[in-house]
Amino acid sequence: MSEPEDTKLEARLAEQESFEPPESFVEEANVSDPDIYDEFEENWPECWERAAELLTWEEEYDEVLVDDDEPFYEWFTNGKLNASANCLDRHLDDRGDELAIQWEGELGETREYTYEELHREVNEFAAALSELGVEEDDIVTMYMPMIPELPIAMLACARIGAPHSVVFAGFSADALATRMKSADSEYLVTCDGYYRRGDGLDHMTKANEGLADVTHDTTTVVVDRLGDELEHELTENQHDYDDLVADQAGASLEPVVRDAEDMLFLMYTSGTTGQPKGVKHTTGGYLSYVSWTSHAVLDVKPADTYWCSADIGWITGHSYIVYGPLALGTTTVMYEGTPDYPDKDRMWEIVENYGVDQLYTAPTAIRAFMKWGSRYPEQHDLSSLRLLGTVGEPINPKAWKWYYKHIGGEECPIVDTWWQTETGGMMITTLPAIGEMKPGSAGPPLPGISANVVDEAGEEVAPGEAGYVTVDRPWPGMLRTLYRNDERFVSEYWEAYSDSDADEWVYFPEDGAKIDEDGYITILGRVDDVINVSGHRLGTMEIESAVVGVEGVAEAAAVGGDHEMKGEAVYVYVILEDGYEEGAEMEAAIVEGVEESIGPIARPEEVIFTPELPKTRSGKIMRRLLEDIANGDELGNTSTLRNPDVVKDIAKKL
Ligand code: WTA
Repeated sequence: MSEPEDTKLEARLAEQESFEPPESFVEEANVSDPDIYDEFEENWPECWERAAELLTWEEEYDEVLVDDDEPFYEWFTNGKLNASANCLDRHLDDRGDELAIQWEGELGETREYTYEELHREVNEFAAALSELGVEEDDIVTMYMPMIPELPIAMLACARIGAPHSVVFAGFSADALATRMKSADSEYLVTCDGYYRRGDGLDHMTKANEGLADVTHDTTTVVVDRLGDELEHELTENQHDYDDLVADQAGASLEPVVRDAEDMLFLMYTSGTTGQPKGVKHTTGGYLSYVSWTSHAVLDVKPADTYWCSADIGWITGHSYIVYGPLALGTTTVMYEGTPDYPDKDRMWEIVENYGVDQLYTAPTAIRAFMKWGSRYPEQHDLSSLRLLGTVGEPINPKAWKWYYKHIGGEECPIVDTWWQTETGGMMITTLPAIGEMKPGSAGPPLPGISANVVDEAGEEVAPGEAGYVTVDRPWPGMLRTLYRNDERFVSEYWEAYSDSDADEWVYFPEDGAKIDEDGYITILGRVDDVINVSGHRLGTMEIESAVVGVEGVAEAAAVGGDHEMKGEAVYVYVILEDGYEEGAEMEAAIVEGVEESIGPIARPEEVIFTPELPKTRSGKIMRRLLEDIANGDELGNTSTLRNPDVVKDIAKKL
């Protein structure tokens, strides 16, 4: 395209505030009838049978929803099914030879699994786990990067009815130990190492350090990812994955029949207080919900090649790399490495090579692509793409439009999907073939989802005003509780807006938002003590306790400051004990302390030493002011501070 024409196009795009779904997409879409919103509304909660119908049930459920003991809802009660049978066995007749997983390693090696092959591998590993003593309801922890053995292990657990608890491989040994202890998990599946930017990283040492901290007995399975590059001595309780599977060659293990409400997995996530929360998801409700949203929002069809570039260590990977796509019998792509290795066109190379139909990624990645420039996608044929998606944090209109133009070629709808670990699947997004898209706004709640934007008192705010997201009706994919902590489940999510006397139960996701005249919701970000770094959820309390654990630190406050690429970055304000010196050495110790206790994703952007922290008269740290300082914003009201001068002193330091 010639320069002036290109500039004209940019100018038009920059001004355009809404976009219609492309005609060609609408014609073929899984869901294209706008009546679906009314249909779900009039027929609630039975409308959710539409989701359950996407699965194969061993026994039909009695009731769609039981709400006798709110907020402990039950979905598809007495229905029986197995998640691995739904993701594998039922596809064998029609799609046994079709690809289930298409994996690409960072160094360019590839592995493909047809449904038949994946079924075999999952059966063998399930038999191996069973041989090791894993029984129904035992929690199996996984601490693995993006290698095929991770989804294989997850599905093997699902087959046995043993819930998995996947810990992101980038998390520290401490984080692994905390999660294993909290879940009383006696089994771990991990690997020797993996590749990052061409280097073989040692993972096993971290896993062993974590295990050393777990006080109960454990059994570990180790996948050999790096071959000869890294040899680890296995102890008596540690087994080589390949040996175990070889012993089970050809084994078949009948999928255990699970109740709809039986736990499928636990996923630990950050919240307001220090300890990560074990979010419990179930077999029937969760699987129906992720299948339905994969079908309706991502428009996944069996013949597609679908790629979600998230890590399976987070909820996005669970729902939209593993369970949703495989339940629908499609081909799901997995990539081990980073988007800029060996070069900044790696993603586009994969899209072209595999003929990817849908790409689901994160705003932080899109901002990076945008910064690297359009010449990278332009080197590749991206015409296979039919739909684009984003998740994890708000996307700014500029990045949205760049994605729309340079990746989608103005021919792909974009779904900006708002949801959380706790919601199991997408909640607020446009349906790709219905209604217009507005860059920067996620869209209306999905059919059947009753999300609102309210003020402190729970009253709906006027269009354009800032408020809080609430959800006042249950949905099948919702978390059922926090593992072994019903009380915290109620207090964290339901207390703020429910009126239990009136039997009105309202879920509070702790996000701020605005709503417009058309009911489109723009998410403004977390309103609790959670920092969203590149779409990764980190608790300020977790970071603070890591910093305070460093020798010489007396007190610390962690806040999120705006960051061009990461969305938010971690800023820590530190008071040292007497006798310790501010400076590079101390700063390095603090950064290391955070990496060690949480992981490199929590690495502070800045460490600011201060003799005092701004506190209210009652002694609460005024985080809002610390955020203002981090952002270089005008300082908010300081009159309620016990020590108003301190903020100016800190601001001067930055
Ligand atoms: C944020 C990730 C704006 C939000 C699936 C939420 C978003 C938190 C969006 C959950 C979006 C997720 N627009 N913000 N499309 N999607 N968020 O549990 O603050 O890792 O509460 O789940 O990410 O993060 P989590």
